[in-house]
Amino acid sequence: MESLNRWHVFTLAVLAYYATLVFYRLFLDPLARFPGPRLAAISRWYETYYDVFLGGKYTFKIAELHKEYVRTNCMWRTPQFYETLYHLDGRWDKYAWTYDAFGASDSTVFGSGHDAHKIRRRAIAPFFSKPNALARQEMLCRNVEKLCRRISDLDGTTFNLGAAISAFTRDNANGFILGKAYDELDLDDFGIGLSIASHGAGFMWHTTKHLRWFGPKLKAMPVSWIMKSADEGMKAFIRFMQQYEQDTRGTLAAAKSSSSPSGDTSDNVVRNTMVDQIGNSNLPPAEKRLERVIQEMGPTLGAGLETTANTLRLVFYLVYSNAEILRRLRQELVSVATTGASTSPSLKQLEQLPYLTAVLTKGLRPLFAGHMDVPRHAVSPRSLRFLTPVSG
Ligand code: HEM
Repeated sequence: MESLNRWHVFTLAVLAYYATLVFYRLFLDPLARFPGPRLAAISRWYETYYDVFLGGKYTFKIAELHKEYVRTNCMWRTPQFYETLYHLDGRWDKYAWTYDAFGASDSTVFGSGHDAHKIRRRAIAPFFSKPNALARQEMLCRNVEKLCRRISDLDGTTFNLGAAISAFTRDNANGFILGKAYDELDLDDFGIGLSIASHGAGFMWHTTKHLRWFGPKLKAMPVSWIMKSADEGMKAFIRFMQQYEQDTRGTLAAAKSSSSPSGDTSDNVVRNTMVDQIGNSNLPPAEKRLERVIQEMGPTLGAGLETTANTLRLVFYLVYSNAEILRRLRQELVSVATTGASTSPSLKQLEQLPYLTAVLTKGLRPLFAGHMDVPRHAVSPRSLRFLTPVSG
């Protein structure tokens, strides 16, 4: 009887807690005055339903809600407002729960605190500078040639061009960031398993974001167990993770042991990597720990894979499905190609081609970064002023 009473008290306490929470969220929370579905105000499960159970549909639901509650101030869909909101002024945090889905909250991409982001970003920014990218032009050209050669060799057969493009972007990203040639363009199937696994990353992201316990539990499982039950895509993904973690470990150790360039080739390979950039940066020692650097490498490598591949696939589709676009583009490219020249046109020349620039910009417009919102939280109050442009 006594234990029954205890259960009553416990149940009542839980009910009282949730009733108070619902009351707070509906009436007292600073966000309560914003219009929108009351269910969404009460619980994140509203978002979970669209993202996890309807497969990443929350982005589209937001657009729908925006039309319905057009006067709301906490969402926006005017493209010109992008520059106003995602501006370097002020202090902005990312909402931890919306970014920490892959267990890499110590990385630049998925970290949430303004100050930590700033120092991490400052450490890797020189690596992503244009001169540094240009210095790798030889590697990029080599991969372009390899891609073209493989496509020519496959002439007359049916093959997966999308997978070839993914392999191309992976070879570029791995070469650029890690200084490693995994040579996926040489594989018969272009390592399609990893592409398929990357396409499933959206579902995984939504699941681990909303069901917070799921990611850590998955990580805690022995790899051998996962390998036994995983499909080919997941196996390829795990092998890739093991490979880049091992390479990061080796490169970081080498970077730390030689802080001045000796001029030998292996040393140069280490020098040209993001791991070395971090290892020899002004970051405090805690930021140079192997576990932290691995957390930085995963999302950054991931950021350079299917984003770029999807954009290229879209550009190829745009160009090859419209004879007029293809004709104009070829005509413009011919204008900078010197007959019999052994070198390709320079980046500077290509950047000055208006039609090529327009085609690439169009391919970038859908922003294939993933179906995720990128909310910001103003740490210091900052008023955002934006006047909707008058059309016509
Ligand atoms: C067409 C290709 C790409 C698209 C559409 C794209 C899109 C994006 C977007 C939308 C963000 C902002 C995420 C946020 O604020 O939450 C971002 C951040 C980032 N991306 Fe990309 N990206 C592309 C290619 C790349 C490549 C090739 C790399 C590196 C190899 C890269 C590395 C990064 C990094 C490091 C960040 C974090 C920057 C920061 O937080 O300061 N991205 N990207």
